[in-house]
Amino acid sequence: MSVNDDPRVLLTPRGAAALARAAALRAERPELTVAAELRREFPPDIAAAALAQAELRGAAPAKFSRAGEMLFTRGGYEQASSEVIARHRAARFAGAIRVADLCCGIGGDLLALGQAGGARSQAIVSGACLPGGHPRTPEAVREIMAVDRDPVHARLALHNATVYGAGAHGAASVRAIVADVRDVPLRGCDAVFIDPARRADARGGSRSPGRFRAGVSEPSLDWCFAVSERVPAVCVKAAPGLPAELVPPGWEAEFIADGRDLKEAVLWSPAFEATGPRRATVLPGGHSLTAVPGDPVAVAEPGEYLLDPSPAVTRAGLVEDLARTVGGWKIDSQIAFIAINHPVATPFARTLRVLHSAPWNEKRFATRLRELGIGAADLRRRGLAGDVERIRRGLKLAGTGRSRPHRATVVLTRAADRPWGLICADVRG
Ligand SMILES: C[S@@+](CC[C@H](N)C(=O)[O-])C[C@H]1O[C@@H](n2cnc3c(N)ncnc32)[C@H](O)[C@@H]1O
Repeated sequence: MSVNDDPRVLLTPRGAAALARAAALRAERPELTVAAELRREFPPDIAAAALAQAELRGAAPAKFSRAGEMLFTRGGYEQASSEVIARHRAARFAGAIRVADLCCGIGGDLLALGQAGGARSQAIVSGACLPGGHPRTPEAVREIMAVDRDPVHARLALHNATVYGAGAHGAASVRAIVADVRDVPLRGCDAVFIDPARRADARGGSRSPGRFRAGVSEPSLDWCFAVSERVPAVCVKAAPGLPAELVPPGWEAEFIADGRDLKEAVLWSPAFEATGPRRATVLPGGHSLTAVPGDPVAVAEPGEYLLDPSPAVTRAGLVEDLARTVGGWKIDSQIAFIAINHPVATPFARTLRVLHSAPWNEKRFATRLRELGIGAADLRRRGLAGDVERIRRGLKLAGTGRSRPHRATVVLTRAADRPWGLICADVRG
């Protein structure tokens, strides 16, 4: 953001008019002429802010259902939680009356926290974090203190929370504070949510440009965890690659996937009444899997169906637990596939019907694919080395075709500790 496109100018009547004009112009004209027209009609700072904002709003429906009324900075939007994830997380805050949203950014989480509670939510907050003998029944969050040291973010968070009803009759009230979260007293808070910034100096080296090292944040994770010494109910958002040893004893690590995309790890302090140390959640359905105690899962050759677990399940280390739930077995002690002889519909895995299963041999698999009339396939490699594109050429596959029944998934993996291949068809749930 430059000094010339501070989105706060869009909160003035003139700024709001420029933003509406930018949206209308973008709908009817080529991009280049929109900027020129806006600059003719509005002062340069307002025109620049309106243009930048119209562009950000164009992308924002990917995260927010009310994107068209919200205000963003580019960095704030990129780091913001999506509405579906924020709502899922906020549901566990029901029962906390006063909540602190530390490092609130542009308010992606704030807007959901403001709606937590009431009939829609399932409270998991422990009575221990509610001083003064508040009842354990879920109550809506009443007051939120949103804190960010970036004054633009704090102001936009307040605006965005208002878009989602904060401050309206019966809804939570929001107080936005510009401060370093480490200096803010938390007296009177029942629960705290912290979404620390990924630190710029935590980027990987030249081998992984643009990627942030998990567990390195501002403020530090250690500071975030220590907040639970002042307010027992603390929830910290972290990157999904967070090393397991960084999770404090007694805390729950929840890994969240939206569809098949692993999005984040959320760490819940013991006061949130965790059911176990790890949880895998798959959105948008909000299905959660926790540990399922039992005997070790058997390892045997693949069966008629193959379950490819959600990355949330794999990351949470709950593959065996999922196998116990569905009555399946593993095809290798180290590989995260589950075999089973009947189709199962589960939100925690993609189900594939096995058309062919044999020790991996590229030539024989190419022949079998031809016999099955399959000309295009997705290649899924897990636990087997090899260049996927070279293998695709060796299998004489054209690419990722869309037309069925000539499309399949070819799984390259290990079974019984040797290279194994499977040709599979998707089972639509
Ligand atoms: C990941 S973003 C928060 C995103 C937010 N939860 C959302 O969904 O929109 C992190 C925010 O932390 C703020 N921040 C980082 N360090 C801070 C500190 N010590 N005190 C206050 N805010 C801080 C940054 O300005 C940034 O807005």
